[in-house]
Amino acid sequence: MCGIVGYIGQQKATPILLEGLKRLEYRGYDSAGIALLEDEGLKHEKSAGKVHMLERLLANRTFTSHIGIAHTRWATHGEPTDLNAHPQLDDTGNIAVVHNGIIENYRALREVLEREGHNLVSDTDTEVIAYLINMYYNGDLTEAVRMALSQVEGTYAIAVIDSRSPDKIVAARNGAPLLLGQGQGENFVASDVAAILRHTNKVAYIEDKEIVTLTADNYHISTIENVEISRKVEEINWSLEMIEKAGHDHFMHKEIHEQPETLRNATRGRLNIEEGTVRLNGLTDHLEDLSRIKRVIITACGTSWHAALIGEYLLEEYAQIPVEVEYASEFRYRSPIIDENTLVLVISQSGETADTLAAMREARRKGAKALGIVNVVGSTIARESDGGVYIHAGPEIGVASTKAFTSQIMVLSLITILLGRMRNISANMGKEMIEALESIPEKIQQILDNEIQIKEIAETYYKSNNFLYLGRGVNFPVALEGALKLKEISYIHAEGYPAAEMKHGPIALIDEKMPAVVIATKDSIYDKVMSNIAQVRARNGRVIAIATEGDAEIANHVNHVIFIPQIKQCFSPLLSVIPLQLLAYHMAVLRKCNIDQPRNLAKSVTVE
Ligand code: F6R
Repeated sequence: MCGIVGYIGQQKATPILLEGLKRLEYRGYDSAGIALLEDEGLKHEKSAGKVHMLERLLANRTFTSHIGIAHTRWATHGEPTDLNAHPQLDDTGNIAVVHNGIIENYRALREVLEREGHNLVSDTDTEVIAYLINMYYNGDLTEAVRMALSQVEGTYAIAVIDSRSPDKIVAARNGAPLLLGQGQGENFVASDVAAILRHTNKVAYIEDKEIVTLTADNYHISTIENVEISRKVEEINWSLEMIEKAGHDHFMHKEIHEQPETLRNATRGRLNIEEGTVRLNGLTDHLEDLSRIKRVIITACGTSWHAALIGEYLLEEYAQIPVEVEYASEFRYRSPIIDENTLVLVISQSGETADTLAAMREARRKGAKALGIVNVVGSTIARESDGGVYIHAGPEIGVASTKAFTSQIMVLSLITILLGRMRNISANMGKEMIEALESIPEKIQQILDNEIQIKEIAETYYKSNNFLYLGRGVNFPVALEGALKLKEISYIHAEGYPAAEMKHGPIALIDEKMPAVVIATKDSIYDKVMSNIAQVRARNGRVIAIATEGDAEIANHVNHVIFIPQIKQCFSPLLSVIPLQLLAYHMAVLRKCNIDQPRNLAKSVTVE
């Protein structure tokens, strides 16, 4: 979603802002822009399309400014045109605003402004903010922003510059991420740390309804109601290499290959093999509550929701706790029945997804304890939850989630062991599960080493227009995830189904042009899945099977087999999803798609 970066200091602002925008590209966007305070006043440039188009425009201009703001826009109100790109200016041309979020009452505000004779030119909800700030400007930009925001309903992270206050940037947040970065004699504001990591790893998170005023040497935070806030700066332990491609063609490819390491990181220091249990620091204050909970609700969106479905299988089987999995976007508008014995688990890679955040807030309002399973340290869900577990997958830049998914499953497995050991699983069983989890990274590496075979299968099928993904039991959510990966990055239509459900409808679609990817690992329902495969083959469907090493027989029944190592059944998703990620990746590469920034998608969906 939209990305914001702002700079004030001694260096030239333009290259810093452009680099920041490139680092924000992964969030998903369709236009970009920049505003700078030059000696002659406010200058700006903006363009529909990618940052390199903005860069081309800027190549014809000479800017020397040391203060500016920049933006990548993911269109919500108005098409992605030059005019609708941010920054949005007021009609005096003094004020420039960049904005992430949605101003819900912008129509009413616009009508008032138009009645007063202003001529707003864009289709955006953002433009009104620039006009309101100008209306309230009386020599103090922070005050004018405060007054303007008191009129605004909705979500925002904004950054503002004004040629009449050339020594400051004012930024504010309500419901969309924003942080400040502290350098030496320079300060930054950004939607996420990737935009400024080259310059500083010292950040302070801005909270909802807070305003921050940055000068080159200082910053000042207050609430919209003008209460002073003292916020400490924290050091982020992400390095620049972590947000670069390290020799891979795409971030997604790098992230798929990082999984042996990211899964080691997810378990590091957390396993207690002797006692067959785990230690999760973020949950130690909640152990008593966890021992008495009678029900779990897991809420999430997209890929994180698929991880939640796998969590449901794990928790019900091993901890014997009833689990419901809810789309966060639905949960927030229902009247869920929650009591003090209900635990709400919230899963989010970014920790900023608007629907997931709203669902968590709703659950907490209703008295539930909400624990987060989050990747981005310091993100809003991580900060607002009652506790939780970081997945430690490192920055995920590819829009299609890969390594975060497996790390989420790993953390759900650890939580399962913790809760299971409080209830009905023995130390021996706990130990067996931990040993299985410890073997996962090496087994994933074996699958990755077979990438060439998966690429060959992709070469056979990349021109197909439709795909079916089938799985059963704990591998049904993996079928959903495999289909989601394919459609997201290759734009091939794909459906994930529980294999047995196929005969209740989707079977009508099967012919020689409809390949089916079937997860057919050797487990308790293997024979049933083989019958489902037979049903596909009987209708001339072509089958790519994900099967367990040593299953010599399966090749006689399918067109292609990708083998994965043996693993305890409940943890098989950690392996079975890897070939599906690679298959989607290679088909998208062959179709010449934009792998890391698929059309229309945003990495962090911070609007409803
Ligand atoms: C799919 C994908 C999305 C996200 C979803 C939730 O590849 O990335 O479906 O999983 O938008 O995002 P988080 O986990 O950041 O809350």
